[in-house]
Amino acid sequence: MKKVVLTVASIIIVATVIIVTLIFLRAFRLPFVNVNILGATYSLTHWVGWIGALYIAFATPIYPMVKHRFPKHLRRTLYFHIIGNLTGVLLVSVHFAHQVTRSASNYPDIGTGIVLYATMLILTSTGFIQYSSLAKRFAKQIKFLHPAFALTFYTVIIMHIIQGI
Ligand code: HEM
Ligand code: HEM
Repeated sequence: MKKVVLTVASIIIVATVIIVTLIFLRAFRLPFVNVNILGATYSLTHWVGWIGALYIAFATPIYPMVKHRFPKHLRRTLYFHIIGNLTGVLLVSVHFAHQVTRSASNYPDIGTGIVLYATMLILTSTGFIQYSSLAKRFAKQIKFLHPAFALTFYTVIIMHIIQGI
């Protein structure tokens, strides 16, 4: 099962890198269409950011909850944590890449979004370090990093949403 999870995780990461590169090279952009969800009308890239960020925000607490209450299901929950969050990072990456490549006349105020994306990258890398055997050697020294950056994500996403709406 671990092999399958690592294969799917690698596919999602490669897909993310390819999509972000294509957007940065201006070879691909989501069509600029407004989508109405529950009475709010925003562009497609805006909603993609919402879906990715909300998924990560609501799905992440499931792992610590299962760890404390239903440890029997921990392994499967961790697989779900990894694949689900990587998919969230993919969606958020689409939003991020569209934002930072907007035309100069319409450029956003760079700020919280960059902190958020750096947090996403650190969460992904510390997650993999923890999942790999590296963590066994330095477990005590680095274990705090992953949950600490999860807290950074929760703090900054609130500011970003307030700034964005
Ligand atoms: C981890 C998730 C997210 C990341 C990494 C991210 C990243 C970014 C970045 C880099 C920008 C450029 C401006 C800046 O640096 O602040 C931006 C702009 C924006 N984001 Fe996000 N975003 C995320 C989630 C969201 C969510 C959930 C919303 C929903 C309100 C949102 C709405 C916006 C809007 C409206 C702008 C344009 C702001 C302007 O025109 O000045 N983002 N985002
Ligand atoms: C991107 C959003 C992510 C967030 C917000 C997040 C957050 C968290 C949180 C809060 C925990 C619980 C920590 C604890 O119980 O001490 C955790 C555990 C873990 N996460 Fe993530 N994570 C994310 C992505 C990932 C990714 C992409 C991986 C990839 C391998 C990963 C791997 C792990 C591992 C291995 C653990 C288990 C830690 C343990 O029980 O020792 N995470 N994560």
